[in-house]
Amino acid sequence: MSHTESDIQQMFNTIAPNYDFLNRLLSLRQDVRWRQALAAQVPTCAGGTYVDVATGTGDVLVAVQACHAEYANWVGVDISENMLVLARKKLDLETTIGSMPTFLQASAESLPFADASVDCLSISFGLRNVIDKEKALAEFRRVLRPKGTLLILEFFTPQGALSRFFEFYFHRILPRVGGLFSDASAYRYLPMSVASFYSPDQLSRLLQKNQIPMVTQKNFLFGGCQLWVCQKELGPIVVPVAS
Ligand SMILES: C[S@@+](CC[C@H](N)C(=O)[O-])C[C@H]1O[C@@H](n2cnc3c(N)ncnc32)[C@H](O)[C@@H]1O
Repeated sequence: MSHTESDIQQMFNTIAPNYDFLNRLLSLRQDVRWRQALAAQVPTCAGGTYVDVATGTGDVLVAVQACHAEYANWVGVDISENMLVLARKKLDLETTIGSMPTFLQASAESLPFADASVDCLSISFGLRNVIDKEKALAEFRRVLRPKGTLLILEFFTPQGALSRFFEFYFHRILPRVGGLFSDASAYRYLPMSVASFYSPDQLSRLLQKNQIPMVTQKNFLFGGCQLWVCQKELGPIVVPVAS
């Protein structure tokens, strides 16, 4: 079934109230560790601008602010107003060092930032949900400064011996537990969205095409969850001329 951005927005508005609780439960708190691993890859940038796209309830901003108070501007972007309400409340309490983030309701496909104005941009468990992912990647390239950092944390279809276990967990257990506390259809959508997301090879090619190639990568859950650190190359995009 194909979704529109408004379907996705409605789905995340619906699951927002129990989103954090289910994340902790379904991942056995590993999600906290994964976001901390992302924060550890954020470059030091005094006075810089940090943007978290698809920020949800703001957990990435909490993790990054804990070790990077030196950024001057913090922005969280999401299409779901209910997620943003929770993010604002959470960051009001959690922002003790660094400045309070600004939260904007906008799509990854059309970011409200000037060209080359962002030093570090993250998207955690968000890219998979964006309808036009190539448009979003082009936006990331546009808004990042040359040599700016893009951090992607995302689920991929795991390969190898444990892939059957993860498939069983994702397709059978997760939707049932999700259904007990939240909207079951949203937790059925999750494994489907992972299955239809890019393979690591496909994502790598797209990032290269957009001249924000991956420079390092870290696997969790035997590759079922991956952290990609990418850097925007200098210079304009060179479109190969067909011969
Ligand atoms: C699975 S949640 C991830 C939230 C958060 N980044 C985290 O690590 O928990 C996905 C989020 O992406 C948002 N989202 C989906 N499509 C989006 C888009 N096109 N632009 C911006 N946000 C989007 C949803 O509203 C939701 O809050």
